[in-house]
Formats: sequence, C-alpha cells, structure tokens
Amino acid sequence: MSEPTKEPFLIFGAPKIGEEEIAEVEACMRSGWLGTGPRVARLEKDFAAYRRVQASQVAAVNSCTAALHVSMVAASLEPGAEVITTPLTFCATVNAILHAGLSPVMADVDPRTQNIDPAAIEAAITPRTRAIVPVHFAGRPCDMDAIMAIAARHDLVVIEDCAHAIETEYRSRPAGTFGDFGCFSFYVTKNVTTGEGGMILGRDEERIARARILALHGMSKDAWHRFGDAGYKHYQVVECGFKYNMMDLQAAIGLHQLAKVDTHWQRRREIWAFYQQALADLPLELPSEPDADTRHGFHLYTVMIDAARCGVTRDAFLDAMNDARIGTGVHYLSVPEHPYYQQRFGWRPEQWPHAMRLGRQTVSLPLSPGLSDGDIERVVAAVRRIVG
Ligand SMILES: Cc1ncc(COP(=O)(O)O)c(C=O)c1O
Repeated sequence: MSEPTKEPFLIFGAPKIGEEEIAEVEACMRSGWLGTGPRVARLEKDFAAYRRVQASQVAAVNSCTAALHVSMVAASLEPGAEVITTPLTFCATVNAILHAGLSPVMADVDPRTQNIDPAAIEAAITPRTRAIVPVHFAGRPCDMDAIMAIAARHDLVVIEDCAHAIETEYRSRPAGTFGDFGCFSFYVTKNVTTGEGGMILGRDEERIARARILALHGMSKDAWHRFGDAGYKHYQVVECGFKYNMMDLQAAIGLHQLAKVDTHWQRRREIWAFYQQALADLPLELPSEPDADTRHGFHLYTVMIDAARCGVTRDAFLDAMNDARIGTGVHYLSVPEHPYYQQRFGWRPEQWPHAMRLGRQTVSLPLSPGLSDGDIERVVAAVRRIVG
C-alpha cells in the first residue's frame, strides 16, 4: 500500500529565486572574482538609486547586524552612552548596541503599530541618552516626525533599523534616510536577499566613509582597489575595524532580487490584503491597516492569538500549523524575555507590557512572494480550522 501523499511543507520566509540570480552567481564564479568587487559596487549603486540617495552614501556589508554595529561605532558616542530602542525586535538590534560598548534602554511599543512609541522614548531619556534606534517593525514605518523632533530637541543620533523596511516610506520619504544611519538586511527571509547581507545608508558622507573603512578591518583602501587591474595599491590600517564586507557572490543574488523588489512587494501586498479579508471574522487580532501617507513594506503579516478568545494558546497554534505542514514565525518574544538580558540588566518583561503581550501572542503567517493562490488558501483554511 502506498503512503498517502503529504502536502508540501510551506517554508516560512522562503525567498523567490529566479533563473537570473542563478545565472549571475554562475557568471560570478566563472569570473574568478568571488570577493568584494564589481558586483558589490553595482549593488551599492542600484540600492542607492532605489532609495533615492547618492551612491557615496551607502556601503554594502555582510549583515544588518554588521551594519548596526558599524553605524554605532561610526556615530562616535562615548562608552556607556545610553541608546533607546524597542523591546519588540530581534536580539541583533540590542546586541549591536552592546558590542559598540553602549548601554541599551528599552522604550515600549504602541500596541496598534507595534513600533516604538515616541512618548515612551521621551519618558526614557536621561542626561546620558545619546541615540535612538527605531525599528520599522514588519515594514510599517515608525512615527519619524515625532522621533526626529525628539532627536533634535535632545541632540540625539538616530540609527534606523530597516531590516524589515527596504520598500518602506514615511510621508513619501524612504525609511533609512531620516536618521544619521539606516541599516538594511538581505538575510534569506528578507524582502531582498543575498543569502546573508546588509547595507548601511548614511546621511553624512564623512560618517559613511568611516563606516566603510570600519567594515573592512579599518583599511583605507578596499580589496577591490588592492587587487584590481589598476596595479597594486598599498593600504593603511587607520582604525581597528571589523571583517564585515559583502562578497560579489552575495551581490550576484542581490542585483536581481533588487531589480524585482517592487514586483515582489506587489505580490506580498496582495497576500497581506487577502489575509486581512479572509481572517476578518475570526477571534484573532489582525494587524491594523497601513497608515495614511506611508508605504508599508509588507515584510511580515502577524496575527495575535489570545488563548482566552481563540480557544488555543499561541504555542499550540504554532504546533497545529506545523502539523498542517505550514511554517510560521514568531517576531518576536520581547527582548526582556531572554535570560541574558535579565541577568545582565535585571530586566523583567512586565516592565514593557505592550511588547510582552504582543511577543507572547504573535504569530507570523507565510508572506513570501513565491506563494501561490492555492498556498495562501491552504494557510487560511488551516487557521480557520485551528481557531474557528
Ligand atoms: C529587526 C531586525 N534587526 C536586525 C536584524 C539582523 O539582520 P541580519 O540577519 O541581516 O544581521 C534582523 C534580522 O532578522 C531583524 O529582524
């Protein structure tokens, strides 16, 4: 007797890779130039054009974590300076603050937007505050008017965590161009992927030039210039930097991903709208609609599972989705839920109640541009079966 055929597992955050990406990677490998080189330079140029800034204002790196770390160092803040960020983020946001020798301070989120609440930022400011790191959660822009006004009033650096926000705009202006730095992720699940990768966008050309040097050992000339066909160039180490450069092999994927960024965004927008409508009658809390005068990046579609209303706990819901062969995500358990931060700072999740509640109830449903109509109908049917 043959086994019943199982439905394929829907991988959460699966990238949509086309023949163009595959051919470019192959061409890169055949070229013999795998490391930082012409394809990285092209990706920087294309990314700058997409975000409507000068090519000299961006620097490609090997992750958003690297981008955040280097930006914090390039901001030249004094050791131990306080940096305010959101508890509803990936640990990398907070770890980058710590790696730069700075002191993270949490400010709770607005439960409707899931973004850092400007009033909570204001309340967290002390004489030692030097920077704010807003995260454009799920691709929804933070309230940048309010945040930049606070930064101006208190003379604070702003480093935008744009890991979810490649396409995001706030009042027609791209996310990442408000603060001193914007840090983007090209991780596999992100809206543009290079496998692993990231980009730093800087307002000030001197600071971004310093970030670029810091991202490659603190060397004054990058490897492309050292080993290109223009003759050997000596380099000087001018700072103690990091090994954070992007490879051409990664940029080969990113070039074609970026060319398709708006096509993929359209498809994710359709899926997002389909879920909003198809799940509206269930006892779930759905994300609020995108705000007026903004462009949502539609990076995540998150629903809240309140056990009392839904008849199932969040974690049982995750298991049931997995049994239905549908991959899901949790973005995120709030930062103070993790033992490292509790032990180091004495933080308790209850101190930031909105982030705690959201982190304990949230589930991200699949939102990849490669999902078919049949796939998303399967997702909705499974959610209805589990919650209904
Ligand atoms: C909000 C946020 N910040 C930073 C990062 C780190 O990005 P990367 O994996 O490119 O280092 C992520 C990645 O998941 C993220 O979601």
